[in-house]
Amino acid sequence: MAIDYSQKIPNNVDLASDKTLQRALEHWQPHFLSWWSEMGPDESRGFDVYLRTAVSVDHKGWAQFDYVKMPDYRWGIFLNPTEPGRSVGFGAHKGEPAWQEVPGEYRSTLRRIVVTQGDTEPASVEQQRHLGLTCPSLYDLRNLFQVNVEEGRHLWAMVYLLHAYFGRDGREEAEALLQRRSGDADNPRILGAFNEQTPDWLSFFMFTFFTDRDGKYQLSALAESGFDPLARTTRFMLTEEAHHMFVGESGIGRILQRTAETMASHKTDDPKRLRELGVIDLPTMQRYLNFHLSVTLDLFGADVSSNAANFYTGGLKGRFEESKIADDHQLLSATYPVLEIADGKIVTTEAAAVNALNERLRDDYIADTVAGVGRWNRIIQKAGIDFALTVPHKGFNRRIGTLAGACVTPQGEVVSREVWEAKRREWLPSDEDRAYVHSLMGRVVEPGKFANWIAPPSRGINSQPVDFEYVRFN
Ligand SMILES: [Fe+2]
Ligand SMILES: [Fe+2]
Repeated sequence: MAIDYSQKIPNNVDLASDKTLQRALEHWQPHFLSWWSEMGPDESRGFDVYLRTAVSVDHKGWAQFDYVKMPDYRWGIFLNPTEPGRSVGFGAHKGEPAWQEVPGEYRSTLRRIVVTQGDTEPASVEQQRHLGLTCPSLYDLRNLFQVNVEEGRHLWAMVYLLHAYFGRDGREEAEALLQRRSGDADNPRILGAFNEQTPDWLSFFMFTFFTDRDGKYQLSALAESGFDPLARTTRFMLTEEAHHMFVGESGIGRILQRTAETMASHKTDDPKRLRELGVIDLPTMQRYLNFHLSVTLDLFGADVSSNAANFYTGGLKGRFEESKIADDHQLLSATYPVLEIADGKIVTTEAAAVNALNERLRDDYIADTVAGVGRWNRIIQKAGIDFALTVPHKGFNRRIGTLAGACVTPQGEVVSREVWEAKRREWLPSDEDRAYVHSLMGRVVEPGKFANWIAPPSRGINSQPVDFEYVRFN
């Protein structure tokens, strides 16, 4: 079904035929808009931004690009089409027809899954709300707003499920999604990484590379769900998510390019000298990488988890690319390696695979991350610089799981607390690093101009030139 933009709430779920649901969502809509004006991008009102808007859920040509006046973006409800005859692909209900309604026995579990996913969407908008004031270019400002409006739409996607399938409890949860605040001491967002600050553009690009990629893996696992509306809505969210990770990967890639070229032309690898030249030295890039990877790895949850087992056995949350895995899709006797510390060393033990699904998803995520970091390293090498970023060991700087609080180096060695603390400055961003990065953040808004610390992109958005006027301030 095509997306109907004549409605107050654009949708492809025939909202007009369910008046009760339509009224409930139209009641939530102004609450969303007042949240957006309070917590959405700072001082963006009235800007015309060259944004993509979903016009269809067809893979070929799903989006249209045009200027949109903030905050008049048309947030809507878009689900991928129903797959006729779809069945539950895994767990105890494998082979049964996929559910079009919430099975009573899984009601509270599914609601929790939807709320936890939904909570991350407004959280990242809140974390990023001041960045527009220090954008390194119009191109980047546009990308920031694109990510922000789509995270807002992802919130709509989850709120639709809450309203349509979870009755009164769902409506209450939808309200609460607008009340929690990232980093708030009394009413914080649900997951740790979404309460961290995103104070500068280096953090933003790291966040969209690492933490939006966690989003990709969580959404992929939910896209396998036996609860069909959840599978269909997350499938469409994944289409949008790809651009968020592109923003992160290309953003960091452009910073590395600028730094590596500066290192080559000035024949120096001295961080102090490079900072004088106004670029971000590679050891600082490594420390930011270490921080963002480690806080994101925690988002996957405990290595051995009975919740994860229940989600899987219940048919609610699958593995990454479940249908491509050649096994029984029930995990009745399989095992999976997990890490623990024994005698001062990290050792591998075998856990029941059904309990180790968080760890498996984390490992799938890490493999994807390693590939992305490899692409960054090629940019550094191409500039003739002998330096490679590395992905730290998954036990490094963890707060959740068996390795939580353990003193593990980025190389995966267990050391004493004293040694670890003495090295912290080498491994994680220091106040001084953050202050330096902060000092670079100015506001560049002349079309085609870029801040000194970041290279221009190789091409613009939607075949527009790099010096296109991506945002008009009016
Ligand atoms: Fe999202
Ligand atoms: Fe995202």
